Amino acid sequence: MSEQIDDALRWGRDRISACSETARLDAELLLAYCLDKPRSYLYGRPEQELSQPCWQKYQQLVQKRLEPTPVAYLLGSREFYSMEFTVTPAALVPRPETELLVELALELIPIASTYRVCDLGTGSGIIAITLKKQRPLASILATDVDPGCLVLARDNALRHGVEVEFIESDWYRQLAQGTVFDLIVSNPPYIAANHPFLTQGDLPAEPGLALTPGTTGLEALEQIVSHAPRYLVNGGYLIVEHGYDQQAMVAELLKAQGFGEIRCVTDYNDLPRTSVAKLVENLNSGA
Ligand SMILES: C[S@@+](CC[C@H](N)C(=O)[O-])C[C@H]1O[C@@H](n2cnc3c(N)ncnc32)[C@H](O)[C@@H]1O
Repeated sequence: MSEQIDDALRWGRDRISACSETARLDAELLLAYCLDKPRSYLYGRPEQELSQPCWQKYQQLVQKRLEPTPVAYLLGSREFYSMEFTVTPAALVPRPETELLVELALELIPIASTYRVCDLGTGSGIIAITLKKQRPLASILATDVDPGCLVLARDNALRHGVEVEFIESDWYRQLAQGTVFDLIVSNPPYIAANHPFLTQGDLPAEPGLALTPGTTGLEALEQIVSHAPRYLVNGGYLIVEHGYDQQAMVAELLKAQGFGEIRCVTDYNDLPRTSVAKLVENLNSGA
C-alpha cells in the first residue's frame, strides 16, 4: 500500500509525539530527507503518493526517532549559524543557544587583524569553524578529549574550506608550553551527573562526555576558568556557556582568577546562559 505525503506526515507526527515536542517538524524533516527534497516541497504536494521504498525508509526513520534518536543523527546534518554541519553520534547535536556564544565572540574578534582564539571541547567543530568562516584572519585552535569528535570536526572544517588547528587534549593539558590566546571560548559539559534532565528527551542518545563533567556539573567550568589566565594575554577574554542556574557560581570562579567586566547574557528563552569576562589582573603572572 502506498501513502500520500499528508497521510505520512500525520502518521509520523502521531508516533513521534510520544518522544518529541516538535513531532510535526521532526516528521517533515524525516520525510523531506527520504524524498531528497527541501521541507517546502511537502507543502505544495500533500496528495503526492510516496514510492514504496520512500515510505519504507520513512517508517524506519520514524521508528528510530522513537528510540529516541535525535533527528540530526538520523539526517547526519544540522544547521548552525546558517551553515550545514555533519553530525554523528560521536558529538553533541549543535544547539541554537550556542549561536549566542558565537555572536559574543564575533563582537570581540576584530575583522581586520589576527586574533588568537581557542575553542575548548569543540565537539563537531561548530564554534571554531563558524568563527574562522566569519573572521578568516583569526587563528583558531580547537581541542577535544574525544578523538571521535576531532575526526568529525576536521571533516566539518574541510566541508567549509577553513583551516582550524585541532588538537586532542584534556582541556589545556596538551597545549604547547607558552601558547597564549586573545580569546578562549568553550561550551563545556555542565549538567550534574545525577540530574534527571539527563534521562529526558534526546539526551540519553548523546555522548555522556559532552553532557556531564561529574557530580556537581561545575567540574569542567572550574578547570577551564582556573587555568585560563595561564593561556590568556593580559586583557584577553574568556566566554563560557553554562547552565541557566550556574551564573553566580561561574562569576565567582571568574572573579577568583582575576577576571573582571563580567557579564552574563541571556539566551532566546531569556535564561542566563553565557558569561563573558576580561582578564584584568593576571594572578599567574610572575609565578
Ligand atoms: C557540550 S559539548 C560542546 C560541543 C561543541 N563545542 C558544541 O558547542 O556543540 C562539550 C564537549 O567537550 C568535550 N570534552 C569533555 N571533557 C573534555 C575534556 N576533559 N577536555 C576536552 N574536551 C572535553 C566533549 O567531548 C564535547 O565534545
